[in-house]
Amino acid sequence: MRSASREVADSFITAWLAANSNGTVDTLDVWSTELPEFDGYALGAKYAALEGRERTSQEVEVWEAITALADRFRNAQLIVFSVPMWNFGIPYRLKHLIDVVSQKDLLFTFDERGLQGLLTGVKGVTISARGAELGAFAEHQGAYMSTWYEMVGITEHHDIVVEKTLYGSEVDSKSRAAGRDAALGLAQRLKV
Ligand SMILES: Cc1cc2nc3c(=O)[nH]c(=O)nc-3n(C[C@H](O)[C@H](O)[C@H](O)COP(=O)(O)O)c2cc1C
Repeated sequence: MRSASREVADSFITAWLAANSNGTVDTLDVWSTELPEFDGYALGAKYAALEGRERTSQEVEVWEAITALADRFRNAQLIVFSVPMWNFGIPYRLKHLIDVVSQKDLLFTFDERGLQGLLTGVKGVTISARGAELGAFAEHQGAYMSTWYEMVGITEHHDIVVEKTLYGSEVDSKSRAAGRDAALGLAQRLKV
């Protein structure tokens, strides 16, 4: 498999299912799942609620698609993200998904007391891969995902990082093997 983050995420899920025989998995592939464009109608639908006005029929339609995607997060007890590093951050399709589902009264709420995540009790696992080492550069991959978890109320979240996937097959295989080991250990200890 080309994707290191996907390979380690698959190992995690296989090990987690072995340890949780009643568990079920809902896989959301950001490349093949239709994600609503966050343009006029979606923006209108988001701000209609914030402004306290009725949604138009087109806004209702796009909001139903957004709610259906957010429900897949709301129904989860454990969320596992497979996250390649793209230009020091996360790939645009994953960011698109996060922009679509992260809505007030779906994944969080807020008032004058501040932000309250609604996914309390859910746990998170981020499996990140990057071609090189981070070196002196700032981290916008796992750090971004951690901020998102906190925003939606997920206080227990774990990181597994596979680095140097582009340093040749020997280094890549070693990094992936270490990632798979870490995934196995985490899947066995994580209680949901
Ligand atoms: C568009 C693009 C941008 C990338 N940017 C970075 C980067 O900023 N830093 C890095 O170390 N690797 C970068 N890479 C390499 C990937 O992080 C690396 O191939 C990693 O293994 C991707 O995760 P995956 O194997 O799960 O797909 C980039 C790859 C692509 C396709």
